Amino acid sequence: MPKLERPRRARRALTGLKAADLRVRPLARAETIPSAWYTDPCFHDLDRDAVFAATWQHVADVQQLAHPGDHVLADVAGEPIIVVRGSDGELRAFYNVCRHRGGPLALKDGNADMLICKYHGWTYRLDGMLRGVPHFNLVELFDKRDYGLTRVELGLWEGLVFVSLCERPKPLEIHVSGIRERIAPTHVGGLTFARRVEYDVHANWKVYVDNYLEGYHIPYVHPELLHLYSDYESYRTEVSDWYSVQVGPLQVERNVYTAGGGEALYYHVFPNLMLNVVPGRLQSNVVVPVAPDRCKVIFRYYYDDVTSAAARERIEADVTFSDTVQREDAEICERVQRGLGSRAYDKGRFSVRFEEGVYHFQKLLKNAYRTWLKR
Ligand code: FES
Ligand SMILES: [Fe+2]
Repeated sequence: MPKLERPRRARRALTGLKAADLRVRPLARAETIPSAWYTDPCFHDLDRDAVFAATWQHVADVQQLAHPGDHVLADVAGEPIIVVRGSDGELRAFYNVCRHRGGPLALKDGNADMLICKYHGWTYRLDGMLRGVPHFNLVELFDKRDYGLTRVELGLWEGLVFVSLCERPKPLEIHVSGIRERIAPTHVGGLTFARRVEYDVHANWKVYVDNYLEGYHIPYVHPELLHLYSDYESYRTEVSDWYSVQVGPLQVERNVYTAGGGEALYYHVFPNLMLNVVPGRLQSNVVVPVAPDRCKVIFRYYYDDVTSAAARERIEADVTFSDTVQREDAEICERVQRGLGSRAYDKGRFSVRFEEGVYHFQKLLKNAYRTWLKR
């Protein structure tokens, strides 16, 4: 059997986890999480095991995996993962790790009839069964059936592919329940993928998520974004079990998103998925921790129309506008990361009016740490 439990440096973080810091107080009295949670390498490890290895992670789209043999690579909780469409049409996910000596089965996204290890050529079927083993005829007590690829749980929601490293994860649907109905008539599964953009941000992934979760900073960091909303005062946050949503009523005049009116809905699904929906368009963001002070953010854009001249113009304008906003967010996050590392700072407080989303995220984070401690 492969070992799925890895030695956990994260255990060391436990000594740094104080009971008082895990306590959840009402929003009006709560403090933000301690700065060490954003800066200490032990918490980077703890997040990997207690948060990222314990939740559904969005890694691909069914549109990328339309044909048998199509495969997509992903990094989930520091693990190399491969999602493959089988010859039988089934989607499966595996560790991208050969059972011989740990080589990779694929180095990039692509299509293949078989998964052939890039180290010594062990060959696996698309369903993960080991088939070809070169120069192994003298090996004793070896049964190929014992050396298939190690499966990972896979879930689908509206054409988005998720994986979970948990052995028995709670159904994916629980985590996104109600989103489909709320964003109608926009139907995520009916949109077409248009663009993928990746950003490196020199900040802890939680700094990026905290920042995403409040409109408090809009007047200071994105003054140009203020004009998009019909009424900043009515910008609000609603919270659910596993996600929160910020609702920004869009102005009626034509803008980068719509011919006018409607709402912008900014969902954050714990821990690291954002679904930014305006009528006829989804922009998803996945935040991937890279180091204690570094994360990668993957943006994917989907639209109801990607072919007409007007649609192409809209996509260009949308991507350019989002890029400006993203750069402003990345810059403030990088400065905040420095501030959190300062001896002058430990914990802060929340605006009840504008930071309920941040509070909700930090509550779920504490909950994930507590669950990990009980294991
Ligand atoms: S590690 Fe895969 S064939 Fe050797
Ligand atoms: Fe922002």
